[in-house]
Amino acid sequence: MWRFLAVASHALAVEWTPTILAASEQRIICQKLVKEVALIALGVEAEKHKAALPKDIQVFEETLHALLVGNATRNILGSPSELVKSKLEAVQSHWEVYQVLLQNVTTGDSTGISQAYKLTASIKQLLLEASDLLTAEAVADGNEVPMEFTLAERQLMLIHEMQAEAALVALGTNVTRDLEKMLQSKQLFQESHYGLLRGAEWAGGLGAGK
Ligand SMILES: *[C@@H]1O[C@H](CO)[C@@H](O)[C@H](O)[C@H]1NC(C)=O
Ligand SMILES: *[C@@H]1O[C@H](CO)[C@@H](O)[C@H](O)[C@H]1NC(C)=O
Ligand SMILES: *[C@@H]1O[C@H](CO)[C@@H](O)[C@H](O)[C@H]1NC(C)=O
Repeated sequence: MWRFLAVASHALAVEWTPTILAASEQRIICQKLVKEVALIALGVEAEKHKAALPKDIQVFEETLHALLVGNATRNILGSPSELVKSKLEAVQSHWEVYQVLLQNVTTGDSTGISQAYKLTASIKQLLLEASDLLTAEAVADGNEVPMEFTLAERQLMLIHEMQAEAALVALGTNVTRDLEKMLQSKQLFQESHYGLLRGAEWAGGLGAGK
């Protein structure tokens, strides 16, 4: 009887995984974008990154739209609450400025890189808040959200972040700040890496700053 009830309520639960994953992936893409423009400005494999940039911009835009209003084809649920919606709308308004800065770099104007880097931090923070809210909704809806998975995704983001920071150090935008951030990312990456290997029992600290 109890078993039956548990199965029935599980079946009723909404499928949240693609939505939560999409929100996490947006943070990776955002980090990848700033890395790409930093490498374009540095002239490191510039053609390759110039080719990747418009695709990543498009993915980010489509997914942001899907997260705001939902997309049945991708199994992405639209903002489930006003709070999630307000975070995503804030991302949208940063994005409008951000993408101009990115496009400018591809046309040889890299004066906006520092500003783009700052916006990356704001966008990622908002996406993290949206992601946490979505996770809370999923849990309230009776789902289990696998932490190891989220942690593995964060590692991917940190790789892009370290590359972006290394490129920014090389560009000399703000050597003190960028070098310090790079070392912080490296430490976080290592700690999470060992955590993943150990089974991530402490992964509850995931929200700490990233
Ligand atoms: C949903 O996503 C698919 C695949 O990315 C896309 O082709 C389609 O246009 C989207 N639908 C809406 C209504 O945005
Ligand atoms: C980006 O490019 C546009 C058009 O060339 C220009 O008006 C704008 O000032 C540039 N913005 C920044 C921050 O570089
Ligand atoms: C560089 O970053 C540091 C630390 O964030 C900040 O205190 C300093 O004002 C920045 N320097 C410039 C020239 O922006």
